[in-house]
Amino acid sequence: MRKTVCFDDVLLEPQFSDITTRTSVKLNQHIKNLSKPVHLPIVSAPMDTVTEATMATSIGQIGGLGILHRYNTIEEQVKMATEVSESGVLFGAAIGTTGDFIERATALVWESNVNILCIDVAHGHHSNVRYALEALKKTFGTTIHLMAGNVATLEAFNDLSDWGADSIRVGVGGGSICSTRLQTGHGIPTLQSVIDCSKSDRDTILIADGGIRNSGDIVKALAAGADLVMIGSLLAGTDQTPGEVLDTEKGKRKVYRGMASKEAQNNWRGSFSSIEGVSHTVPYRGCAKEVINELVVGIRSGLSYSGATSIQEFQSKANFVRQTTAGAFESSTHIEARY
Ligand code: IMP
Repeated sequence: MRKTVCFDDVLLEPQFSDITTRTSVKLNQHIKNLSKPVHLPIVSAPMDTVTEATMATSIGQIGGLGILHRYNTIEEQVKMATEVSESGVLFGAAIGTTGDFIERATALVWESNVNILCIDVAHGHHSNVRYALEALKKTFGTTIHLMAGNVATLEAFNDLSDWGADSIRVGVGGGSICSTRLQTGHGIPTLQSVIDCSKSDRDTILIADGGIRNSGDIVKALAAGADLVMIGSLLAGTDQTPGEVLDTEKGKRKVYRGMASKEAQNNWRGSFSSIEGVSHTVPYRGCAKEVINELVVGIRSGLSYSGATSIQEFQSKANFVRQTTAGAFESSTHIEARY
């Protein structure tokens, strides 16, 4: 049985740097079948407590990407997409692989100019995804960027690339609100999946997705070969996520929930089957742009520790080392444990 690594198992070796100002570190990426580059490698997750029109617009305005969730009617999603599309930012919208997905995709592209369609299923290495990708490629050619996932292995990454995906969400079972591994026993630590999928010889964009907790994890995901990272919990609780701010005994909070949680399933289809996520509240955190800007400061600083001024240079230079459990303890702040 092979050994795998997760974010806390590794660190990046600091390297010689002559970078005097971190703003000289560039984070822009050219993405296949998108009319313009993205300026930040950050994508907001298509979840009903993360990305609707307000989040997609905000993250788009600072150079990232938002993917509108699909847990609504076609009309509701098209209305959200139209709202974002007026602001002129790059953005995407999620769709499924069965039922009305072609009708939904067509409405999103033709009525509201989405730039990206995201085939959003939990187990992406699936014949339904092949069918959906082939049907969408036939309908839209290269005019629309097709994102698909989620996958955990190189074989799956290559298959989805060959079926027509332009970008692939990599990570199964690692999300902060995810109980897939508990419920099904399946999954691979997200960082390991990124390392494995980055060995692909296809030119498909790799999106690390699930379990990213801070800018350090983003830096590690990029070092491992991710072109972009998708985040849910890091944006949860901000003003730009859907949902009310709740006044609780623990202070102001907002709901953040897995789309396969009992609560989310009950809301969007009136029943539930395999529960593979949880619903939770997280502290209210103010403006998403400020939260993202803080992450960006950390990412830029991260690249500079490896002496790199671009993501490409960083990926060619970055050197991982493994750490022990004692090392992981030293790596987190540990004053609390001593005094
Ligand atoms: P986070 O950034 O660690 O909070 O993870 C967000 C990611 O979790 C999303 O982008 C999805 O890939 C994944 N996800 C969302 N809902 C669920 C769920 O209910 N079960 C498992 N994974 C989920």
